Amino acid sequence: MRILVIGQGGREHALVWKLKQSPQVEVVYCAPGNAGTGLDAINVDIAATDIPQLLKFAQKEKIDLTVVGPEAPLVAGLVDEFIKAGLRVFGPTKKAAELEGSKRFAKELMRKAAVPTADFRIFTNAAEAISYIDEREVERVVVKADGLASGKGVVVCSTREEARQAIKRILLEKEFGTAGERIVIEDRLEGQEASLLAFVDGHTIIPLEAAQDHKAAHDGDTGPNTGGMGAYSPTPVITPDLIDTVVEKVLIPTVHEMRKDGRNFRGCLYAGLMLTNQGPKVLEFNVRLGDPETQAVLMRLKSDLATVLYAAADGKLADIEPLEWDTRPAVCVVMAAEGYPGNYAKGQVIRGLTEAAAVEDAKVFHAGTKLKDDQVLTDGGRVLGVTALGENLAQAKLHAYQAVKCIRWDGAWCRKDISDKAQQYESQSERGA
Ligand code: AMP
Ligand code: GLY
Repeated sequence: MRILVIGQGGREHALVWKLKQSPQVEVVYCAPGNAGTGLDAINVDIAATDIPQLLKFAQKEKIDLTVVGPEAPLVAGLVDEFIKAGLRVFGPTKKAAELEGSKRFAKELMRKAAVPTADFRIFTNAAEAISYIDEREVERVVVKADGLASGKGVVVCSTREEARQAIKRILLEKEFGTAGERIVIEDRLEGQEASLLAFVDGHTIIPLEAAQDHKAAHDGDTGPNTGGMGAYSPTPVITPDLIDTVVEKVLIPTVHEMRKDGRNFRGCLYAGLMLTNQGPKVLEFNVRLGDPETQAVLMRLKSDLATVLYAAADGKLADIEPLEWDTRPAVCVVMAAEGYPGNYAKGQVIRGLTEAAAVEDAKVFHAGTKLKDDQVLTDGGRVLGVTALGENLAQAKLHAYQAVKCIRWDGAWCRKDISDKAQQYESQSERGA
């Protein structure tokens, strides 16, 4: 099998690394990739959103399976173009990717399919949105730009004034450009956050082992929101019973409603959840694997990923064996550049990667890196996803941080508490909280 992975982050490095292990796979390309994917695959210098060039490359290289990592090419319709050209591709079509590309679409679909989610209203007019805020009984809301805004288009508000400001910034000052021509205002939910990811082929849904992301920049979930500073899997936050509930109440009705709507969903469906007192409610859908959840989850997958993604792309997930998982937990610690998630410098030399690779059961997935004259340089905000397995979570965490300790560049930092949420949650559950 000849495979092309599209993207350049930690998720894509993990995909490349795992796909490469399949005895069925002859070659893995990654476009555009990073310094890490360049070691485990062959990098191709084509941007993830350059659909015509990617298509040309896939045809020329007789690619059997293309796996799309990030949302932008999905929302832009890469999958439609590949299918039209007779190529096999893992990921949803443009119409199906609207589930992530438009929060309004996602909310309305959930309403139609009776999927539990926060109550919401849609606005394009700032004055109307503000008078809605002024008249609401409950002050706490979340204001969201409708379109893709790299995770930044969501403002969680505690007061009416914060909500008014968010409305003005998005609708009047156009902080997110056309992505903010429309907003969703929804009730603010309380609870623990967790995500459940599933491979979907239009009909069959195969949930992956659960993982928990750490979205805040600093320890104890403080500081600004980021793309994700670390993840661990499995998580006690999502019990096997809860997985069943989410499959039944969220994933099945969503996939069914999408099919009814002529938007057959194939790819990875990612439900971002708030675990409220009334049960799990959907915060958002993503139409791709999560980053950094993928790094932790794929470390634990024993099954042949190439077979699974190939079957999903062909609508044949029902024919494959159940997924097999390593029972050992995995922890992924993201090492970031100074200044991230704000402005950050690029081009720092990264040292200690060889020592880190020698740590027991550890794998360093690259995210924002590039190779220059045999040196690995920082090239993004999230630079590395240092991931490790252990007999238990404490040991997985220890291995991951042992590897982190080997690595250095000017301004490198990471959270020190990745996976501690699991212990907090377990002790809360024991107290009956
Ligand atoms: P989203 O991109 O929609 O997942 O939102 C990003 C983050 O905003 C989530 O991970 C939550 O932390 C927070 N958030 C989104 N919607 C809500 C909500 N209805 N209530 C509380 N927090 C939310
Ligand atoms: N880890 C969050 C995301 O991939 O969107």
